[in-house]
Formats: sequence, structure tokens, C-alpha cells
Amino acid sequence: MVNEYYFDNFPELESERLIFRRFSIDDAPDVFEIRSDDRVMRFMDSHKHRNVYDSEGFISKNFEIYKKGNGLFWAIVEKASGELVGDFAFWRIEKENRRAEIGYSMKPKFWGKGFMTEAMDRLLRFGFTDLNLHSVEAEINPENENSEKVLLRMGFKREAYFRENRFFDGWFLDSAIYSLLERDFKYDMSNLVASVNSKK
Ligand SMILES: CC(C)(COP(=O)(O)OP(=O)(O)OC[C@H]1O[C@@H](n2cnc3c(N)ncnc32)[C@H](O)[C@@H]1OP(=O)(O)O)[C@@H](O)C(=O)NCCC(=O)NCCS
Repeated sequence: MVNEYYFDNFPELESERLIFRRFSIDDAPDVFEIRSDDRVMRFMDSHKHRNVYDSEGFISKNFEIYKKGNGLFWAIVEKASGELVGDFAFWRIEKENRRAEIGYSMKPKFWGKGFMTEAMDRLLRFGFTDLNLHSVEAEINPENENSEKVLLRMGFKREAYFRENRFFDGWFLDSAIYSLLERDFKYDMSNLVASVNSKK
């Protein structure tokens, strides 16, 4: 089963450049900055936040999901500046299958620095070793190339392509499903990060 301990004791974590902490309602302006930005929302297939109250509601709803043991939501903070740069979640947790879906986003000014790769490396490791997940799933808009690149870098494999299975904003949209098994997770990312940097 999934390790329930973390639903009473929120796992505050860190990596080389980042801190992963729980959300507070005071983070609403940063969440609003992310979820009202067209560049971020382009392939999210969900509605933009219209104001900071939408973002407060989003934080509260996620907290309720956490309290029920169905999701974990981290604010990603850059150590150097102390700024909230993005978010990462395990949600739709299926306890009996030890499986979770992931969701993530980042302020565009922080794209291209490898922050999400670094975050996923740490948080997926937490998911497999501490939360006791067996597999992780990501559902993306097939046109979301940035998101796909991060998933492939982490070792995710495309397992399904659903045609027009989502109705959003008056359109039927395709989705691509990726998954990563615990045994396929690369516990040592240092080689991968080095190879990305050497291509620059
Ligand atoms: C998905 C998203 C978080 C990816 O952000 P990103 O900055 O492209 O991803 P990473 O943090 O992994 O950075 C990778 C890039 O940083 C570069 N990079 C620089 N330093 C790096 C380092 N030390 N390690 C790894 N990559 C590094 C990589 O070369 C890569 O650049 P490239 O895309 O030109 O090849 C971002 O595009 C986003 O927020 N999108 C909107 C929200 C969204 O669609 N979420 C997913 C919904 S399913």
C-alpha cells in the first residue's frame, strides 16, 4: 500500500537548487501568476484563473484532497531567490495500485534552467522510495512538447494516445498517456543532467 504517514506529516524536501514545501494560502498571488499566464495554460486544458480568489480556491481544494490522502501538492521554491517558481503534484492517487498521476507547471521566466527536471528527479525518487508508489502516470496534450521532453528525459514511456477523449472549451482534444515504473526510474540523474548540459 501507499505510505499513509505523509498525509499526516507533510514531506518538506530539497534538491541542489530547490526547496519543495507545502502550499499556504499566502502563495495565491504566485499561483495566480502561473495559472493566468497564456504560455503556461496553452496546453493545460483547464481554465485560466481569473483572479487571486480563484487561486486561493485552488490551494484550498488541493489541501482538502491532501487531507483525504488522495494527493500531495508541493510549491517549488528557488533557494537562491526564495521565489516560488512552480508546482508539482501527485494526485489521483490509486492506493491499491500504488499508482499516482503527476501534474506540474512553472513560471515561464524559469523555463530552460532544468528546474522541472531537477524537481521531478527528487520528487519521483520520493514517490517511489518513501511514498511506496509502483508507477506514475502523466496525461498531456500531445502538442505540449516541453512537457513531453521532461517526461522522456525522466524515462517515461508513451503508452496510449486517446483521440478526442477530452471536451474542453468547446473542442474535443486528444491526450497522450505516459508512464514510468519504479524499476525503470533512473536513480542517478547526474549522467543525464551532464549530457543535457554538454549539448548546450
Ligand atoms: C513543462 C515545463 C515545466 C517544462 O519546463 P522546462 O524548463 O522546459 O523543463 P526543465 O526544467 O526540465 O528544463 C529543461 C530545459 O532546460 C535546459 N537545462 C538547462 N540547464 C539544465 C540542467 N542543469 N538540467 C537539465 N536541463 C537543463 C534543458 O536543456 C532543457 O532545454 P530544452 O527544452 O531547450 O532542451 C514548462 O514548460 C511549463 O511550465 N509548461 C506549462 C505547464 C504545463 O504544460 N505543464 C504540464 C501539464 S501536463
